[in-house]
Amino acid sequence: MNNFKSLVSGVGSINKTRKYYDNWSEKYDATLKLWNYQAPKKSIKFLQKTINISPQKILDLACGTGLFGTELKKIYPKSQIFGSDISKKSLKITSGKKIYKKLQIKNFEQLHHYKLKFDLISLIGSMTYCKNFDKLFANINKNIKEKGFVIFTHRTDLWKQQDFLRILKKHQKTLKIIKISRPLNYLPLNNDFKNKIKIKIVLLQKY
Ligand SMILES: C[S@@+](CC[C@H](N)C(=O)[O-])C[C@H]1O[C@@H](n2cnc3c(N)ncnc32)[C@H](O)[C@@H]1O
Repeated sequence: MNNFKSLVSGVGSINKTRKYYDNWSEKYDATLKLWNYQAPKKSIKFLQKTINISPQKILDLACGTGLFGTELKKIYPKSQIFGSDISKKSLKITSGKKIYKKLQIKNFEQLHHYKLKFDLISLIGSMTYCKNFDKLFANINKNIKEKGFVIFTHRTDLWKQQDFLRILKKHQKTLKIIKISRPLNYLPLNNDFKNKIKIKIVLLQKY
């Protein structure tokens, strides 16, 4: 059984995080349903309200068991969605859902090597685990098309601690800030998060 307290305080090293999500993988979807996880649906709504696009190629970083991919597929049924994550067991579950064209086991701070460039790159519910923002943004910059979009969520408590707007502004030369949402519910039925920890959704565009 996972120690869900570490969801708030952080799991630790990448190996610990991988193990944590491997162990949780089979029950992840059910647990998040119980907590009324809202990031995937809210991110899609935010995207649809803010811009009118029909992305052909999408890369879903830290795709986990594919909860955001599921929502993407509903609004962009013709898109080709690629996914990556460090948890092999989560990806096994994702693969069974047959949403993604290709899945790979990969750390989002390492450069991903695709022959194509993406119209949209997402990172939903996972910025918490980023240890080096420069490396993550380098990976995104390498794989995004010119004028392509990036959507991600970030926890409001970490946003404040990390002075995250400053980090975004540092990357403005390549990734322009299009819109940042107000704080929104994240895991409203989880006692540690409830009204205390929310998320902001961020939309960026490659120059
Ligand atoms: C809260 S889950 C979110 C999964 C999915 N995006 C969703 O919305 O359900 C966090 C995911 O981040 C993955 N993860 C954590 N650190 C990572 C890293 N450095 N690179 C890639 N994936 C990572 C975990 O394995 C896990 O699947």
